[in-house]
Amino acid sequence: MAQDLFRRFSNQPAPRPTTEPGSKPPGEESGPDKAKVKTAVSEGEVMSAIDKVPPMPAVVQSLLKQMGNQQSSTSDFEDLIRQDMVIAGRLLKLVNSPFYNLSNPVASLSQAVTLCGLSSLRALVLASSTANLMNLDLSAYGFAEKGLWKNSFATAALAKAVAQESKAGPQCEEEWFVAALLRDVGMLVLGPFLAKADIKLRADPDRAEIDILRRERQVLGYDHCWVGERIGERWKLPEPLRLCIARHHRIPTDVSASTMRQLAAVRIAERIGYAAGIGLLKDHPFDAHIDGMLIHAAGLNAESFSQLMKRVPAVVSSSEMPL
Ligand SMILES: [Fe+2]
Repeated sequence: MAQDLFRRFSNQPAPRPTTEPGSKPPGEESGPDKAKVKTAVSEGEVMSAIDKVPPMPAVVQSLLKQMGNQQSSTSDFEDLIRQDMVIAGRLLKLVNSPFYNLSNPVASLSQAVTLCGLSSLRALVLASSTANLMNLDLSAYGFAEKGLWKNSFATAALAKAVAQESKAGPQCEEEWFVAALLRDVGMLVLGPFLAKADIKLRADPDRAEIDILRRERQVLGYDHCWVGERIGERWKLPEPLRLCIARHHRIPTDVSASTMRQLAAVRIAERIGYAAGIGLLKDHPFDAHIDGMLIHAAGLNAESFSQLMKRVPAVVSSSEMPL
């Protein structure tokens, strides 16, 4: 599988500027486009749907505030998780899944922290708390059953692998995992509007140059990056995470080198996931193109990218878990 994927990327036609530095024409920013098109949904309907997205549990908000803080202690973590036994239960299920491949089952949070590390458990808590949300029917986008969850969790695991192969450090492993996990959260709001209007976004060779954001705006007036950013505000997500949700399709040039690298890493991870078809119908509309510029922007080189591709089958299969 890794060889197939690598061949697929290597045989891609002429590279396009995946990071699109300075290439955004006016009007191509993520966001509402209500003035230009007659769309299937009104602004009021979209804003009301955003308001109905369930709030992030208080426990998770507290953990997110600590994200990247290497000073937080394991006892702080355990005290927080114990406040929400549903999340604690799901977390233990995740820790005991093939994702960690532990030889002996873990029965307590203390054991889980010791074996898996605080950083990665914090990211898994977030995964545990968003899993149910992501089980929505999003076949209008070309997702299979429970596809957004499967795709998002696998992409998160792949983003973590990109951080490892590019030697970005443990803090990036956690932050990139979370960013990849939540990047497409805006589809939770827009997917039902597509379904209601009987619109199916699918691969279309005649419109290959029109990316998913433009296609969303053409039919709905909004795209999932803009909506995702609004959800991120509602959930009080940290600013860097909101930025990744907002810009993962249009990587900006006016951001720090570390943000640029994170965005590129998330994009590589999602495109590997798209190429592998994780959680997707065969004729899904998502772009799986990876080029040298993107690989370089993520801090990878030919050798580490090749190493990453060899790991893809194991990373993907370890991320297959029901929740
Ligand atoms: Fe996206």
